[in-house]
Amino acid sequence: MDTHSAALESHAASLENAVDMSHHLSTLAKERRSSPLKSFAKYMFDPTVRSLAGGLPNEAYFPFETLSATTMHPDIYAPMGIEPGKAKSWLASLLGKSLDFIEVPKYAKKQGGLQLKNGLQYGAASGFQILSDFLTEWTKLAVPPAYANWEVLLCDGSTDAFHKVVELLCEKGDGILVESSTYPSALETGWPMGVRPVTTPIDDYGLVPEALEALLKGWCDEERKMRRPRVLYTVPIGQNPTGSTINDERRAAVYALAVKYDFIIVEDDPYWALNFGPYGISPPGSEIEKDKSKSEEEKNKAFLGLIGKSYLKNDTQGRVIRIDTFSKTIAPGCRLGWTTSNPQFAERLLRASETSTQQPSGPVQLLVAELVVLNWGMGGWIRWLRGLRGEYGRRRNWMIDELVKGFDIKVPKLQAITSASTGEDQMMPVRLEAFVKQAPSITSTGDNAWNEKMAGLSIGSTKTSKGIKILSFIPPSAGMFCWVAIHLENHGSLRGRSDFSSVSYQEESKELMQKIWVSLADKKVLVAPGWMFSGDGLRTGAPDDDSLTSSSSKSNGDENVDPRVGHFRLAFATLEETPMRQTMIDFCKVVNKFFE
Ligand SMILES: Cc1ncc(COP(=O)(O)O)c(C=O)c1O
Repeated sequence: MDTHSAALESHAASLENAVDMSHHLSTLAKERRSSPLKSFAKYMFDPTVRSLAGGLPNEAYFPFETLSATTMHPDIYAPMGIEPGKAKSWLASLLGKSLDFIEVPKYAKKQGGLQLKNGLQYGAASGFQILSDFLTEWTKLAVPPAYANWEVLLCDGSTDAFHKVVELLCEKGDGILVESSTYPSALETGWPMGVRPVTTPIDDYGLVPEALEALLKGWCDEERKMRRPRVLYTVPIGQNPTGSTINDERRAAVYALAVKYDFIIVEDDPYWALNFGPYGISPPGSEIEKDKSKSEEEKNKAFLGLIGKSYLKNDTQGRVIRIDTFSKTIAPGCRLGWTTSNPQFAERLLRASETSTQQPSGPVQLLVAELVVLNWGMGGWIRWLRGLRGEYGRRRNWMIDELVKGFDIKVPKLQAITSASTGEDQMMPVRLEAFVKQAPSITSTGDNAWNEKMAGLSIGSTKTSKGIKILSFIPPSAGMFCWVAIHLENHGSLRGRSDFSSVSYQEESKELMQKIWVSLADKKVLVAPGWMFSGDGLRTGAPDDDSLTSSSSKSNGDENVDPRVGHFRLAFATLEETPMRQTMIDFCKVVNKFFE
């Protein structure tokens, strides 16, 4: 064991167990009974037992002899800050040698090997031990909780986990605290169970603890017609849709509120690994990535040190349920993820799986275990994540480069704040303001030029701006989305008006958003309208199918808070560089024209 691992182990040994959180369990969760089959388990796996008891189909009749796949090397993609052509496997990929072949036979040829017959058979709801062990090890390394007896439990992805968590913690008529703009599927999960979203503000730097405290402190059951929410659902990194990432200080403050007001934090963190740092500066960690004297092990360790953020690290009591998924790091079709929680919650979640999803798909567990655990190993897995971070980070840059070029942009100075908990300087992403384009395009002249611009030394054309601010956005430092605010108040039809709380103003702002959306769609540019992510949107029902273009849609997102501003969510995950840049050029043209 190296000194770092020894230090981790000794720190873990000094931690207390979780406190009793059973008062948070819903009636439904409490009433789930243990599976009657549990007591048979010790006999079921004894090869000398001649079973007449089981209900398992005969594996001889499973019509698959092998499960095999051609897979990628974990170092195929360049980490953040390294040019793609310089990734280690790039030459190998040119020569067609960057692929591996994995195979799981029906019956293992070697001792301890994975067997397809097990993946095709009914299995334990907790999933394959080899995966749970790996993910437990991973949690210790990447996001170690601050209490001792936490458990990892496999699930069928984040959506599945959240559904089970709502059943675990909520009664009909309860509210769940959610960020004011949030992932719609999470809202839909609670709705039919009679669990309503209670929104709390999110800004450019994540959930706002002061606003959350004000909400909880002033809570009145009678007025709200519900008891004070006991669950917070949050997407802390590269939030969907706003792209914002909470910093250490705010995370600590939110955790302190959870203790004070006794609520559970459900941390849904699918974009954890895609945490690239602010746009326009040399990507955090790139010095180490470029340093040829550093080993891959050292680079892996530096990567985890850089991006290993989670509420689990604040969690001394066992009041965080962290949800992880392989959807963004391997493939969403796998439907495979895991929760990390206190053992009481883990046990009740396991009971929920036994009577619903039963177990994550066996063949998928085999594929992931064979590739990630046996083929790549922990070192390879971390290297893979470093490459993914680089890939999505470059995609973020393509989108933001074009947004910056497409308008007259005002760039405030980047700010650093010193984290009180770690003493490290954290660069704060800054909001860029975009004005109607007047001057010729600023041409990108490489990293140094961008650094100068982003440091506020020059952005050239703001002087020539007519001063019509039409758009603002914060270049996301993580995730897959850029959340663009459209300043409708500066559109010709609303400019100068002060009646923004009137119904007619709200209707007109809604119509303007729809018109821009349609103009973009006519140019074959599809963006996600802000109303789709409104935490409040479901209060009066989901919009109609045709509401994207009809004026019947309820709101434009948080424009129901401020109708002067609408939002679009732009995803930088899918398009390749050339179509992405062209799409963004078209986006900028349409929006500029709309405000001319
Ligand atoms: C915040 C958030 N949570 C969960 C999911 C879905 O995750 P999974 O595929 O694991 O169900 C997404 C997918 O877009 C997401 O953005």
